[in-house]
Formats: sequence, structure tokens, C-alpha cells
Amino acid sequence: MPESTYPRKPLHAGGEPVPALALGSWNTWDRMTPEEAVAVIRRAVDLDAGFFDVAYYNMGPHAENSKTDILFGQALRASGVDRADVVLCGKLWLWDWPNQGFRAQLLESLERAGLDRFDTLVVGDYLHAPDMPRLVSDVNALIADGLVGSWGINNWRIEQTRDAIAEAERRGLAGPVFAQLKYGIARRSMAEGDAYGPLFAEGALTLQASDVFEGGILATGRMPDRKIGADVGGIREQIAAIYPDVERIAREFGVTPAALGIAFCLTNPATANVLFGASRLEQLEQNHAALALARDRGDEVRAALAGCWVDREVRSDGVW
Ligand SMILES: NC(=O)c1ccc[n+]([C@@H]2O[C@H](COP(=O)([O-])OP(=O)(O)OC[C@H]3O[C@@H](n4cnc5c(N)ncnc54)[C@H](OP(=O)(O)O)[C@@H]3O)[C@@H](O)[C@H]2O)c1
Repeated sequence: MPESTYPRKPLHAGGEPVPALALGSWNTWDRMTPEEAVAVIRRAVDLDAGFFDVAYYNMGPHAENSKTDILFGQALRASGVDRADVVLCGKLWLWDWPNQGFRAQLLESLERAGLDRFDTLVVGDYLHAPDMPRLVSDVNALIADGLVGSWGINNWRIEQTRDAIAEAERRGLAGPVFAQLKYGIARRSMAEGDAYGPLFAEGALTLQASDVFEGGILATGRMPDRKIGADVGGIREQIAAIYPDVERIAREFGVTPAALGIAFCLTNPATANVLFGASRLEQLEQNHAALALARDRGDEVRAALAGCWVDREVRSDGVW
């Protein structure tokens, strides 16, 4: 077990505690040399950030035919890191489901990354509400076959999330245990609002914060050239406009804006872990400072950033 500067929490009650930091795969491993990817993986395990999101970006808005998952798998093997020392999170897409079924998607994803199972997975968002009884059955069939341990959802509208939990409970099956939501200094409505709030408060779900730097804007103040996450509410310009404040506050705490952004997410008791993209080893090193900051000065961080909440007018129930 790596040395941790921040207590691990489980993704669900009774589950194994997971690292507080998680690394995204979208536009990361495919923007590094193989040597740097190996170094990032080894260092992530040392820093207790050995939780990796492994997705095949090949469908719907993500029809990118990216090789980032293949490159991650190669680097993981080359790193010599023990499989038991990392948590691997797969992804299933609903864009063409059930036409492209979960089992085929999962087996393809595992094969591409050279893995035999995921510890957990995220079921992505959708255009039309999915057939929930079938969805819950299909995910549970993968769990029953040992291909994955648990599951969570990504940006689902609260109605479907509640349906999934209720459907699973009614049938004695595994329901979603965590919600991967957009969450950070500027976007708080969904993760902190009154739709998901009760589920977090009662322990029905934990939160996986994602898109925390708004694709990098809140880490550097620059608009990235690459594709980044969806701009729910059309507020990206307003988010970019708070960067000077974020930079100033980060300086006052003696950290980078990125570390401040992660520390902010960790101040929410619902947060099980924070998923961010790092395209260089140096970024991972810098971002790790978030753990000590959240541990030692969490309340001050939250208070200092009170004026940086931008998405107040965005709906908290995920409808947009
Ligand atoms: N739930 C959602 O709606 C949603 C949306 C988007 C993504 N995601 C998930 O979240 C993961 C992360 O998303 P993301 O990588 O697109 O966004 P992100 O975590 O907000 O931004 C990552 C980018 O921030 C920059 N960065 C990170 N640390 C930095 C540092 N210390 N100094 C300067 N810049 C730094 C890097 O940009 P450069 O590489 O350009 O230097 C990095 O690629 C994805 O892999 C995906 O799984 C979820």
C-alpha cells in the first residue's frame, strides 16, 4: 500500500477504500511518450493516485477512435506495477445501446487494454432514457461473470439514477454506487444541489468529481485546442473569466491552480475521489499537493473560493 497523505474512502459502503486521486485516459496517454506514460503510472501508485479510468472512445460524441486505452494497457504492463495495486475503471456507452451490447463493449475494451477485468465501471450518459430493467440486468450479468466489481453512472439525470437504484434494490441486484459528475470550483450545482444531494447525504452514492479543471481552463487560464467536456449551461466564458481569481487564491495557499481545484473537490464529504487528466508527470506531481491542502486547510479553501461558483443557474437534476 503506498503512503497516503489523505485518507482513502470506499466508492460504496463496505467497499475497499480507493485512492483519492484518479487519472483520466481521455487525451492523456495518447499525448505522452511511452516512457513518460510508464513513469506516470509508477508515480501515481507511489502517490496513492493509482486509480485509472480506462475508456475506449469510439461512439456517439466520442467517435474518436482513440488509442489512449491501448497505450495505457501497454504502459501498465511495461511499468511492472502489480495489478492488485491499482484500481481500474472501465466505461460502457449508451449511445448505441442495446444495439451495441454491454458485454461486447466490455470485452472489446478489456482486450484492447490487455486486461481481464475492471474493478469498477461507469455507464455513460444518453440522449434518451434507457430501458432501466434491461440496463440493470445487463450490468449485473457482467458482475456475475467476474468481469467487473461494481458500477457507477456518468452525468445521468437524477430521474434515471433513482430508477436504477430502485430497480436494483427491488430485484436484489447491484445498483450504481457512485456518480461521476462534472464538479469543480466553478461547476457545483449538480454535485452539491438538491437533486443528487440527498443520495450523497444518505450514503446511497458517492461522488467521483470529473472535468475538474474544465478541460484545463482552470489549471492554466488557456482554452485548450483539443476537444474537452461538454459546456453544460453555455457558461464556459464565465468560467474562464474567474481564472485570475483562482490563480490569485492558489498563490495565497502556495499551490498551483490545479491543486487548488482538486482540493476544493475533496472538501465535499460526498467525494470519494477526484478524476483529472494529467498529460505530463510534472502535472501529477503538482496536483498531488491538493491532498495535503485539503487535509490541512479544507475549510479555508472552500471559504476562499465562495465567490467562484459560476453555474448557480444551471439545473441540479442533470436536465439541460
Ligand atoms: N463527467 C463528465 O462530463 C466528463 C467530462 C470530461 C471528462 N471526463 C472524465 O474526466 C477525465 C478528465 O477530464 P479532462 O482531462 O478532459 O479534463 P480536466 O481533468 O479538467 O483537465 C485536464 C487537463 O488539465 C491540464 N492540467 C492538469 N494538471 C495541470 C497542472 N498541474 N498544470 C497545468 N495544467 C494542468 C492538462 O492540460 P494539457 O494536457 O493541455 O497540459 C490536462 O490535460 C477524462 O479522462 C474523462 O474520463 C468526464
